[in-house]
Amino acid sequence: MKAMLRNTLFTTLGILLVIQLNGQDTPADYLSADFHKERREKVREMMSPNSVLVFFANPERNRANDVDYIYHQDPDFYYLTGYREPNAVLLVFSDSQQNTAGETYNDLIYVQERDAKAEQWDGKRLGVEGTKEKLGFTMAFNGDEFSTTMVDFPSFDTVSFFDFENDYRDKRGAADLYDLIKTFKEKANYPADYDAKKQELYSMITSTPIENSANVAQILGRYLNNYANLEEDELLKGFVSAADEAVRKEIREKVLIVQKTNNLDSSMISEIMNTLRETKTEEELVLLKKAIEISAVGQIEVMKAMHPNMSETEIQGVHEYVYRKYGAAHEGYPAIVGGGNNGCILHYIENNKPEVGNDLVLMDLGAEYHGYTADVTRTIPADGSFSKEQKVIYDIVYDAQEAGIAVSVVGASFQSPGNAASEVVAKGLLKLGIIKERSQAKTYFPHGTSHYLGLDVHDKGTYGPFKPNTVITVEPGIYIPEGSDCDKKWWGIAVRIEDDILITENGPVNLSAIAPRTTKAIEAMMKQNSPLDDFVLPNLD
Ligand code: GLY
Ligand code: MN
Ligand code: MN
Repeated sequence: MKAMLRNTLFTTLGILLVIQLNGQDTPADYLSADFHKERREKVREMMSPNSVLVFFANPERNRANDVDYIYHQDPDFYYLTGYREPNAVLLVFSDSQQNTAGETYNDLIYVQERDAKAEQWDGKRLGVEGTKEKLGFTMAFNGDEFSTTMVDFPSFDTVSFFDFENDYRDKRGAADLYDLIKTFKEKANYPADYDAKKQELYSMITSTPIENSANVAQILGRYLNNYANLEEDELLKGFVSAADEAVRKEIREKVLIVQKTNNLDSSMISEIMNTLRETKTEEELVLLKKAIEISAVGQIEVMKAMHPNMSETEIQGVHEYVYRKYGAAHEGYPAIVGGGNNGCILHYIENNKPEVGNDLVLMDLGAEYHGYTADVTRTIPADGSFSKEQKVIYDIVYDAQEAGIAVSVVGASFQSPGNAASEVVAKGLLKLGIIKERSQAKTYFPHGTSHYLGLDVHDKGTYGPFKPNTVITVEPGIYIPEGSDCDKKWWGIAVRIEDDILITENGPVNLSAIAPRTTKAIEAMMKQNSPLDDFVLPNLD
């Protein structure tokens, strides 16, 4: 009887679950339409008068032959719209516009047209109606209407957009990204030789008071080293190498004249998006915290499952299973799983060593949940216990990270965690005799300590003093590749510890703290049983 009741109950629950799932064909916890709308309002508040910002969806990328990479929306586009499909353009106006029918609007979006055949092959499209209903836009149109848009770009004082990398394809159909960009270029009188980077650097010259021009010249000099085509620009070159302020003033006047020839710009859009995306709203924090928690649980399960016969690929797979189980669709960046010396390669993504053996395994793994990505690294001994040398190096990195986290406070400079962590690493390496001078520490700790985290793993920000509700990573490391100029006993040891830190008025909060971090806590976690201990697959030999 009991069994019958239980079966009936389970059947009823099953039916309810099916009904519930049938009524909800996508997750209910995406960012809300109100969030995106409010963000567009914030953008508008920061725009200069009589200006328009133009955002394009990310291009689709070909993997090989007729297969594309999984589509990923441009984070700025996603932030402002919630639209997750390609071939779309968003226009945000500083001031209310009016169309010929007398309707007013302050943003416009052009999206992919509904198409039964295309949707049968490649998935559902929101279309104009869906964009209005689900994303809350009032002015949404099919992409092909962009070519007859009433927007008169030359009439604006500033038309600001991220310049094009020219790595998108002209696909079939009249309203793909290629066509949208082509239309925009025609309508905005985009010069054939327009170079947005150059315009950005020109803006740096003209937007800074002449008394600061020596500093600007120094910064520009660094940029020019990275952009071969800009090195040859007479105005930029002249400004950087100018002997004195009078010469820089003369060049600045010339730049002002060149700038006036059009209303195109890339700096307003960058400045606005860097400022807005640096700090997170409560709604964003819910998703970001979830991505981080999922990733930390993944690290815990990997710790339990790890043994020396595991391959790097399999370790990656364990983490991947955990994050997908929680509904995270992707990694936020390619997983890094490096056993022993492989851990010394900072962006090691082959992850193909067949057995990790008794080495340390460095695992930099971040799940992406509804667009927001975690970035969490743990380094653990595959056999469950740290050797003496491994522990000594690990503890220096741990202390460096603690020092970095402690200074991640409101008002501190962006460089503070890096300065604090580098100091600890350098002292530790000097004490062990691995380096002879402080300046050599960079050899073994060659990367930065912090970056912003959010929709991008290396998220946007202003790099100014820390503000509340900013999330950064604190991720010192020590990497001693085989053949290094130190005692052999250190060779092949690579340690990075990376946590995701929320900066608040009440101090730093470690959002990935549930993944064990001390050597003691890691060893204890690795002693725990894993559900994978009993997961034995047939031998295919
Ligand atoms: N996972 C890339 C990074 O740590 O910056
Ligand atoms: Mn990172
Ligand atoms: Mn990382």
